[in-house]
Amino acid sequence: MAATGNKVHVDLLHMHKSTRELVQEQVDLSKKMGCDDQFVICDLGDIIDKYQQWTKLMPRVKPFYAVKCNNDSAVLKVLSDCGASFDCASKDEVQKILSLGVSPSRIIYANTVKQPSMLKYAVEHGVSLMTFDSEAELRKIKSLCPDAKLVLRTLPAGDFKCKIDLRQKFGCPLSKIRTLLQTAKDLDLDVVGTSFHVGSGCHDGNAYIASIRQARSVFNMAAELGISMKLLNIGGGYPGESSSRETFVKITEAVNKQLDKDFTEDDNVEIIAEPGSYMVSSSAVLAVNIIGKRMLSRKDLYNEEDIMTAGGDDDAPSVMYYVNDGVYGSFTDVLIVPENLDLDVQTLTCNKDEICYESAIWGPTCCGFDCIIKSTKLPMSEVGDWFYFRDMGAYTIVFVCSFNGMTSPRRIFVCAVETWRKIYPDSHDGDLIMPENKSNGF
Ligand SMILES: Cc1ncc(COP(=O)(O)O)c(C=O)c1O
Repeated sequence: MAATGNKVHVDLLHMHKSTRELVQEQVDLSKKMGCDDQFVICDLGDIIDKYQQWTKLMPRVKPFYAVKCNNDSAVLKVLSDCGASFDCASKDEVQKILSLGVSPSRIIYANTVKQPSMLKYAVEHGVSLMTFDSEAELRKIKSLCPDAKLVLRTLPAGDFKCKIDLRQKFGCPLSKIRTLLQTAKDLDLDVVGTSFHVGSGCHDGNAYIASIRQARSVFNMAAELGISMKLLNIGGGYPGESSSRETFVKITEAVNKQLDKDFTEDDNVEIIAEPGSYMVSSSAVLAVNIIGKRMLSRKDLYNEEDIMTAGGDDDAPSVMYYVNDGVYGSFTDVLIVPENLDLDVQTLTCNKDEICYESAIWGPTCCGFDCIIKSTKLPMSEVGDWFYFRDMGAYTIVFVCSFNGMTSPRRIFVCAVETWRKIYPDSHDGDLIMPENKSNGF
């Protein structure tokens, strides 16, 4: 990439290249430029394919991409050019989407707790669809935007496994729905539908089935109160890693079947969803530079009791690598969901059949928690070598903070030429023209 002015360059690929080849090319370029910064290669073609797969597999469900997941302007631009709508959670996200020329009717303000000034901004700029799950939010909406189109977010049904559970924080419990709907009615507010989110990274089709079924009962309850719901929002949670393609297909089959049971075409209900991770997870590979290394034996690292429990060879070396991205950068998930992470670290310089050593990978800051991987087996690498990680497109760059003065990874955009032409048939090069706007991140 080069993000110059309001143009973002995308390298159009005329033949297939493996992830490893793409990373190696960029590493070679970095070396030439004398640059050791970490970088992300974002495959916009992967995002286009994902969007098209979604619309093909779930034609009844209109995707509102969750901007919080990856708010890179080029990613948002490509998704908007594909025809996506957007789930925004703040003024900044609304601004970003509107600055792309997207109509406010393609935005849902899907944060059940909206800062009043941000809500005012969104409404003044034409956003009218929004979620709520409490009486306090209803009263806020009544005072600031009484004509809004409201979507009641409910607790998802059942207890299904997911990577990030949102149930503690959001969603009206089934037992309180009737009262809340009645309050909305008493306030003369327009409740147009209901939503749920089964939790991020939910691979179990039954979770979606149970909540769609529950949504049917919410529609019925609303009808009993004289509220005619017309919109069902089946949220996010859909997995997006390269390894979960088959799982996603199975989920779509389950979702379609349940929708056809509970919300037939004749019901004329508009169905939308808020996929984040699904659209972007597999689009990005992150390469980090090894900026430091320490060799320690297990004797140096652990006390005797720990070593006795673990067994093994006391003198076997333990290698500690220090790289230039960490938990205060692209790896914040390590702090949030350590037990649910499956980071796949790859080396560029070593062959698979080389001897592997007990290794840890640490981030670049001075914080003792800044450890990406505590224990893994890796072939011996040296300072100046590179590691890379796949599936780094979701909830990565959005978390980067400036702790210790560390910076965001450099971004490089690529796309297979035939995929690019599906969306930009008249484009002769890979330039993405961003609308003139200072707030679009460039
Ligand atoms: C309201 C809402 N919608 C959509 C999403 C996107 O979820 P996912 O990335 O799991 O698809 C989130 C994530 O937290 C969310 O809070």
